[in-house]
Amino acid sequence: SKAPMRVAVTGAAGQIGYSLLFRIASGEMLGKDQPVILQLLDLPQAQKACQGVIMELDDCAFPLLAGMFATDDPNVAFKDADVCLLVGARPRGPGMERADLLAANGAIFTVQGKAIAENAKEDVRVLVVGNPCNTNALIAGSAAKKVGRTNPANYHGMLRLDHNRALSQLAAKTNRPVASFKQLTVWGNHSPTMYADYRNCTSNGDNVKDLINDPVWNNDVFLPTVGKRGAAIIDARGLSSAASAANAAIDHMRDWVLGSDEWVTMGVPSDGSYDIPVGIVFGFPCECKGGSFKIIQGLEIDGYSREKINKTLKELTDEAEAVKDML
Ligand code: NAI
Repeated sequence: SKAPMRVAVTGAAGQIGYSLLFRIASGEMLGKDQPVILQLLDLPQAQKACQGVIMELDDCAFPLLAGMFATDDPNVAFKDADVCLLVGARPRGPGMERADLLAANGAIFTVQGKAIAENAKEDVRVLVVGNPCNTNALIAGSAAKKVGRTNPANYHGMLRLDHNRALSQLAAKTNRPVASFKQLTVWGNHSPTMYADYRNCTSNGDNVKDLINDPVWNNDVFLPTVGKRGAAIIDARGLSSAASAANAAIDHMRDWVLGSDEWVTMGVPSDGSYDIPVGIVFGFPCECKGGSFKIIQGLEIDGYSREKINKTLKELTDEAEAVKDML
């Protein structure tokens, strides 16, 4: 049987953690034949809650769960990790400005990026879920780059929830199954500026733009619905999206590790594709094969799309400017 893979999860005592850990342990992320060891990181005051989660994981008697522990020390949590899911982040408190939020998270992700690069496997795959996830991934990746050892291209931000949200909106609009939609892209930042783009998308061979043929719906309904979905969930549930966020994290990592037949949206450090500045963590269409990913090349970007892409890019370059001392 296979050697266990080590999966580090931060913010393990939080609500996303509670939706995520059980699915990882059941084999939904890395495969039904792949044993896993869970390495949980959370703050000192959350260690007791982590022990509660561990008790429940125990009580599931998952055959693939080969071990687990909780710690408040990043160097311990990331030791020999194959996969790191960085979920824990500093939420925006009352009176906190955007700059304060970026700085508080910058401090966390500088420490964690360094600890990953020093302790994890050299081919570690890292997905940042904690917001602002693109810029947190940029910071973690920069800190890791200073250490060397790990691959800077492997520090991702999560755009998959936006991708999945957009898929469901397209399915509802066209009355077709979600699985019929291929080649959807969500460009840019995980924020209301993200640009969900179905210009290259097909459904059972039909071009989705022609199928829908409704630019007003695209601009005034579809994009705002997907972009503001997080706020709509908070309004309805009284809590932020957690199960769907955990599901998206599993989708992202599963496709990256095990491959995917279809292209998927991933927040990855730009290599300059589509004129996105090198290093900026940006939602791109990606192809996953043989354990690695590649940005899909050669898509035509029309004037409308370029404007939307530039807007979400501007937000990310502003964020990068605000944290430049940490890069
Ligand atoms: P939560 O507040 O329920 O849990 C967060 C956990 O992280 C807490 O247990 C907290 O103690 C821990 N934590 C805070 N700082 C930490 C640190 N430095 N090291 C380790 N653990 C730390 O929050 P929830 O709902 O689980 O969300 C987590 C993050 O995910 C938030 O930043 C949220 O904005 C983000 N998110 C991202 C989405 C995306 O699509 N990228 C979607 C939904 C949420």
